[in-house]
Amino acid sequence: MNASFITFEGIDGAGKSTHLPDVAHRLRAGGAEVLVTREPGGTPLAEQLRSLLLGTVMDPLTEALLVFAGRRDHVQQVIAPALAQGRTVLCDRFTDASVAYQGGGRGLSLDVLNALENWVHPGLQPDLTFWFDLPAEVAAQRRLGARAPDRFEQLDTEFFSRVRAAYAQRAHDAPQRFVRIDASAPVTDVRRQIQQALEARGW
Ligand code: TYD
Repeated sequence: MNASFITFEGIDGAGKSTHLPDVAHRLRAGGAEVLVTREPGGTPLAEQLRSLLLGTVMDPLTEALLVFAGRRDHVQQVIAPALAQGRTVLCDRFTDASVAYQGGGRGLSLDVLNALENWVHPGLQPDLTFWFDLPAEVAAQRRLGARAPDRFEQLDTEFFSRVRAAYAQRAHDAPQRFVRIDASAPVTDVRRQIQQALEARGW
């Protein structure tokens, strides 16, 4: 099995965090050496930036600069070395989330985000991105009562509808790596959709 970089994306409440451990388990059972990580975060420095990001009010460009600073550290310290060692990296969110949240949600220019992407991880893109897609209203319902909301999770349905639309555009622009998962379906059905996508790619 070749080294692969697999990312999990979607609006808050889409259920990606339920399914990521499942995929890790499945790939390990198939013999892959799997590293599970997340963004914002994944290194001590990036985890510190994550706390700032999720707890402090700031403007969209500051937000993007912090997310990409953490990403730079994460790619250099963790993701690139793991891929070089032939491991499969499963990452809970990556640059698609910046385009969706800071771009779609916050309205930051895509030119800025594309420039940051090219600066921070030139030549590195996920091989496969599971996009857990569902209407913002359904996700909001799921988040209710789940736990205390962070700064992003407190935002309204309109914000998450914009984030969702930005994911849709990103998926449209890179159809070879994006797999849209109907995340409004029951958990067993979502699991089946993921399994089918992995099998279709020879996993
Ligand atoms: P999330 O994966 O939802 O963490 P958790 O499951 O622990 O709540 O990520 C935290 C938040 O960070 C989420 O609301 C989206 C936001 N985020 C951005 O705004 N930009 C980014 O580039 C990334 C990676 C995340």
